[in-house]
Amino acid sequence: MAGMNSRNSFSLITLFSVFAILYMNSVILAADGKSQTFGKVLNPAKLGLKKEKLSHFHVYWHDIVGGRNPTSIQVAKAASTDKSATGFGAVSMIDDPLTEGLELSSKLVGRAQGFYASAGINELVALINMNFAFLVGKYNGSTVSIMGRDKVLSEVREMAIVGGSGLFRFARGYVEARTKKLDSKTGDSTVEYNIYVFHY
Ligand SMILES: *[C@@H]1O[C@H](CO)[C@@H](O)[C@H](O)[C@H]1NC(C)=O
Repeated sequence: MAGMNSRNSFSLITLFSVFAILYMNSVILAADGKSQTFGKVLNPAKLGLKKEKLSHFHVYWHDIVGGRNPTSIQVAKAASTDKSATGFGAVSMIDDPLTEGLELSSKLVGRAQGFYASAGINELVALINMNFAFLVGKYNGSTVSIMGRDKVLSEVREMAIVGGSGLFRFARGYVEARTKKLDSKTGDSTVEYNIYVFHY
């Protein structure tokens, strides 16, 4: 009987220690070593996060500069921009349609909203910062945030996926952009995007 009791109290102490360790681990310590309550370690399952997966999307991005209904408008430039061979300093906001096929008339699957800015003094390079907001199926309402360096005349440009929302929470990855059409008169272009994204 006595042996039983000491075993029970031993396992109680063990259990208590396990909880204490778990609790200590879940409470983030402030710099002074005291615990605080505004932050704690969470089990990913609590957010419904299961296994991280890799998805691939293929869309066409239509940058419409000319005509009556442009989806890309210049909003800023420097005094020297027009004298620059690369248009250094020009900033354009975009709300570009993303379609399933190469033609603008093909199915709309999302919009690319953000801006690009001419970021090269001696080379044609843009800083692109945009969200791909998807509009179809289960991805409707979810976004992928893209930021990167677009060396416009290169055949393939790689840019980073820096995050996302909805089905793309915790997203990371990259995109490959390839220009498929360029109208030198209007400035309109169609760019193929291959999107490789890790998400839950
Ligand atoms: C996408 O979501 C919006 C807002 O909830 C809704 O109005 C729209 O019909 C949805 N589109 C599709 C194709 O499901």
